[in-house]
Amino acid sequence: MEIIIQPDSRTASAVAARIVAARVREKPHAVLGFATGATPLEMYRALVDMHKTEGLDFGLVTAFNLDEYVGLPANHPGSYRTYMREHLFRHINIAPDRINIPDGATPDIPTCCRGYEERIHAAGGIDIQILGIGTDGHLGFNEPTSSLASRTRIKTLTAQTRRDNAAIFGGERKVPHHVITMGLGTIMACRTCLLLAFGEKKARAVAAAVEGPLTAMVPASVLQMHPQAVFVLDEEAASLLTRTDYYKWVYANKPDWQKS
Ligand code: PGA
Repeated sequence: MEIIIQPDSRTASAVAARIVAARVREKPHAVLGFATGATPLEMYRALVDMHKTEGLDFGLVTAFNLDEYVGLPANHPGSYRTYMREHLFRHINIAPDRINIPDGATPDIPTCCRGYEERIHAAGGIDIQILGIGTDGHLGFNEPTSSLASRTRIKTLTAQTRRDNAAIFGGERKVPHHVITMGLGTIMACRTCLLLAFGEKKARAVAAAVEGPLTAMVPASVLQMHPQAVFVLDEEAASLLTRTDYYKWVYANKPDWQKS
C-alpha cells in the first residue's frame, strides 16, 4: 500500500486528480471506476477543471460506478446516477454510452449484477477504481462481514451507513435499505485502487484498514492484499495511524521511476 498524507482535503484531492489524469493521458481508452459520496467531490472538481483548462480528454474513457441504491428511479435526486451526472459527467466530454452504473430500478437484480460483471470484463477490466471508506470500514457498499471474494450483488446497508447518508434523502427513514454494489473481489481485480479519506470521522476506519488485521469486519482492510492500493488522506483522516512519519518520508523521497 502507498499512503499519501496531505495537509488538507484540497491538496489531497489535487494529488488524486493528478493520478487519475496521468492514467487518462497515457491511456485514452482508460476504464475508470467512480465512487460517490462527499469525499470525491473536490477531486471531481479538479478533474473538471483539468478538462476545461488543460483539455483533459475523457472522450474514449469508459466509466463504471461502484454502487447504486435499489428501488430508486435513475432520475431520483438521491440516486448515484444523478450524483455522477451533476458532479462530473455533464461537465466533461465522456460518451453517454460508455457510462455504466448499476441499475437500481431493475426488476431482476441477479441478472443485472451478472451483466455488470460481464461488462467490466468486456471493457478489459478497471484501470483505476476510486474509492471512499465508510466510517464502519466499508468499501463500495460492502458492509462489515462482506465476503472478501464477493462480486457485484445486492447488499443490505447497516444502520450506521444509513445514518451517514441520510442528509441527501431528508432523513434516515427515507434511505433505502438495499443497494447493488461491486463486490470486494470485483474491486480487488481493478489494476489500481485509489482510496480517498478526509476528516477525523474517518480516522478510525483508515487506521483499521491500513494497520489493523485483514478482516471482513473491516472490508477496506482487503486492500492490504492488493498489489497497487493507494490511500490519499488528509492529516485528520491519518491522525490515528502509527507510522505516519514513515509514510511521509516514503512519499517525499519517491524515486522518479516510481512517480505516477
Ligand atoms: P463519504 O462516503 O464520502 O460520503 O464519506 C464514503 C463511503 O461511504 O464509502
